[in-house]
Amino acid sequence: MSGEEVGRIIGEASTLVAPFVSKTPPREGDYVVLEYEGFRVLGMIEYVLRVNDALTDVHDESVIDKIRSLDGGRNEYVKGVVRLLGDLNRPREGYPLPRIPPPPGTKLVRAGRGVLETIFGKSGNRVLRIGTLLSRRDVPVYLDVNKMVTRHLAILAITGAGKSNTVAVISDGLSRLGATLVIFDMHADYVYSGIGNLNPVQPRLNPFYMSLNELYKLMRIDPSAHKQARIFRAAYKVARKAISGGATSLGPEGFLDALKYMLYTVVGLEPPAGLVGVGGELEKLENYKKLLDIYSTRNFKDSAFGVLSKLEDFEERLAGIIDPAAPDALSLLERGKVNVVDLSRLDEDDADIVVSHYLRRILGERKKHRVGGEAVESMNAPVFVVLEEAHILAPKDRPTLSKYWIGRIAREGRKFGVGICLVSQRPKGLDVDSLSQVNNMIILKLVEPGDQRHVQQASEQLSEDLLRQLPALNVGEAVIIGPMTPFPVLVKIDKFQGQLGGSDIDVLGEWGSMRRRDEDTNYEDLIEVE
Ligand SMILES: Nc1ncnc2c1ncn2[C@@H]1O[C@H](COP(=O)(O)OP(=O)(O)OP(=O)(O)O)[C@@H](O)[C@H]1O
Ligand SMILES: [Mg+2]
Repeated sequence: MSGEEVGRIIGEASTLVAPFVSKTPPREGDYVVLEYEGFRVLGMIEYVLRVNDALTDVHDESVIDKIRSLDGGRNEYVKGVVRLLGDLNRPREGYPLPRIPPPPGTKLVRAGRGVLETIFGKSGNRVLRIGTLLSRRDVPVYLDVNKMVTRHLAILAITGAGKSNTVAVISDGLSRLGATLVIFDMHADYVYSGIGNLNPVQPRLNPFYMSLNELYKLMRIDPSAHKQARIFRAAYKVARKAISGGATSLGPEGFLDALKYMLYTVVGLEPPAGLVGVGGELEKLENYKKLLDIYSTRNFKDSAFGVLSKLEDFEERLAGIIDPAAPDALSLLERGKVNVVDLSRLDEDDADIVVSHYLRRILGERKKHRVGGEAVESMNAPVFVVLEEAHILAPKDRPTLSKYWIGRIAREGRKFGVGICLVSQRPKGLDVDSLSQVNNMIILKLVEPGDQRHVQQASEQLSEDLLRQLPALNVGEAVIIGPMTPFPVLVKIDKFQGQLGGSDIDVLGEWGSMRRRDEDTNYEDLIEVE
């Protein structure tokens, strides 16, 4: 075997890891090849220590200097551990590990560029460029798109480490491949970005297309507040019947008005003049009369009043998003585009409802498509859904509407062509069930041990040694694990070339220019005083 020898296996080697010694320190994360007994095993240097046995237990600085000058560094060497990744002679079987460990004395040879390009470069379904090897900037790294979408993805890191940049690189790359993406953009990072094929979506929701549960949440009706929940449910049912049952001429745009009219009459207030037409239609319904009989009693009056004011608060709070004339939410999405749903104007609770509504509908339409039914046009091809702030949408310790649908998509999405990408700067706050259904991970700098342990629990591929790398990563550097890459890999993610929101604000610059402006103004003031 040709190539630069970087060390030799010594001591007790297993089939997974082997200690080595070396004269020149190889870089952590670099790749080596070990040839023994017919195998050609790729290994990754997991950690290195520089040692000088002559200097153990010496504490006096002058003695240290003397010994160093005497031995001239001859006693200095490097020891470390190499993780064995797989047999390069068996690519078709997915590079399985030999069952036999390398014998002590086996040479570690630095993997050549050609070898690494065959493994990590563009090939087959591995067509999405993400960056380069961290240890070899001349070797590009590509990810398997099918595996990424069907086995889901998590992008995890502390704030500012490069998560959004990674999302932009992936989205831009996927858009060139004709992908349909839906990015839920919590902070308007992407909506004005230069990602290719962008379709900015200002969400508009028609209550008619929302489930009872979604409306409870949106209206802040606590389902365990029995009377309020009962009244609303009854009115919801009558309004739906009025629109879909064929007995009235009301359309989806009349849904909210129908609810309002009913609540006004139940409470015993004169409905606003604009609702008279709707009222006329409702009067035709038997179950509307029943509703009046039951709920316009003294017993329910206070609760009904509460529901009415919640309905009005809800309309006011979400003015601009709730739109009775809006078509189905999915009709705003486009196939083959990077659809960026702008949630920046919503608080966390409302964002949860909007996201869950989309997720429910996306999964539903993809299922319909899968069984040959007629789905909404935008859902006629597989979809990759990106969720920023995933720890808010799918938190560990409390139920949210989105968490349920994130879990469902993580479990079932594979069969229906819905992939999910969870992005979070607080992995330990993320629902562990959802996270453990995600098989691919891009982990950038992660400092907190709690976060690291949580991620490790969810992924058996994240070894202790890879975990140790995480705090030391620089911006844009990542560990990538999962079926979308043949081996765990340390990568320098490409820098997205377009504009992204959410980059650091130039505080000093902005203060400076404001001060200059203020100074100019003050100067003029002074002249006036004089
Ligand atoms: N791979 C990279 N190469 C070069 N610069 C990068 C890279 N990734 C990120 N950066 C830079 O680092 C800064 C922070 O990146 P980014 O906004 O992607 O971080 P983030 O993890 O999404 O942060 P937050 O948690 O605040 O959303 C940006 O200015 C970005 O340009
Ligand atoms: Mg970000």
